[in-house]
Amino acid sequence: MSEHVTIFEMGPRDGLQNEKAQIATADKIRLTDMLSATGLQKIEVTSFVSPRWVPQMADAAEVMAGITRAPGLTYAVLTPNMKGLEGAMAARADEVAIFASASEGFSKANINATIAESLDRLRPVASAAKEAGIPVRGYVSCVTHCPYDGPVHPASVALVARALVKAGCYEISLGDTIGAATPETTNAMLHAVQEVVPAAQLAGHFHDTRGRALDNIAVCLEHGLRTFDAAVGGLGGCPYAPGAKGNVATEAVLALMTEKGFTTGIDPAKLDAAAAFARSLRTKDAP
Ligand code: HMG
Ligand code: MG
Repeated sequence: MSEHVTIFEMGPRDGLQNEKAQIATADKIRLTDMLSATGLQKIEVTSFVSPRWVPQMADAAEVMAGITRAPGLTYAVLTPNMKGLEGAMAARADEVAIFASASEGFSKANINATIAESLDRLRPVASAAKEAGIPVRGYVSCVTHCPYDGPVHPASVALVARALVKAGCYEISLGDTIGAATPETTNAMLHAVQEVVPAAQLAGHFHDTRGRALDNIAVCLEHGLRTFDAAVGGLGGCPYAPGAKGNVATEAVLALMTEKGFTTGIDPAKLDAAAAFARSLRTKDAP
């Protein structure tokens, strides 16, 4: 029997958060609903972050209230602090994600805290979510390179990944925030992280700035990872990571998995339709 790979859809959150022009709430809802029909099991819908920091996500509550939830599908959101968690719980998110960085420069720029401060802030968020029965996912950003500090040591990634697992995260998504990882740096990073967190609890989150995302995912597969984040239509970028381009496209990851004989449960035609709509949102907003 062929093995299953989970693709965690990032389009409505990571994909849209960096768009300059405000995208209509109705379009975000439509995109999420189209994705719900593709066979994807997990969708990160939005983030309950400060609207002063990421104005595009200011309509998080409205988006969550407007989507049509498919049975069995997980609708996840980002929560940087207790206020975010309160928003997520009020919106009935199925899962929340907390996020930290392996590099100090990005941590400061993205969440206005040192790595240590951010972990102190996130521990009570994870505990409160777990007490409420909400699964918590954790991100480590800048797993090989930081836009401010340059190359990141694999040991720093392992340290933060372990701290997030200890905080209660069921899975750690390893973020190549600016798409600078290569198969070599990905390999070295995974060796270090897997000394403290097993592959079954790890996911790959690659941006495709330099066109290496699929190669890096192939390395992750060899290491035993079976969950990958991707954004439909290759949308994406982080407002606090200069130069960061889109996430690897969900369609491209689906094609790779099919080629390698993994099952995903995703219908390629429905995914292509969602990708076309996703790209139309970006084109509409282009200058
Ligand atoms: P701060 O300014 O240090 O915090 O921001 P603060 O507590 O002083 O709050 C400032 C204002 O924001 C206050 O409003 C708060 O009430 C409000 P004011 O009183 O001034 O009007 N506020 C909030 N509002 C709504 N929801 C909240 C919330 N929290 C505070 N949850 C903070 C610190 C962490 C809040 C801020 O830096 C922030 O929101 N950062 C998020 C940045 C972000 O979303 N980045 C993109 C996501 S991460 C990513 O893309 C990487 C990833 O994809 C993986 C990868 O690729 O590596 C996951
Ligand atoms: Mg990202």
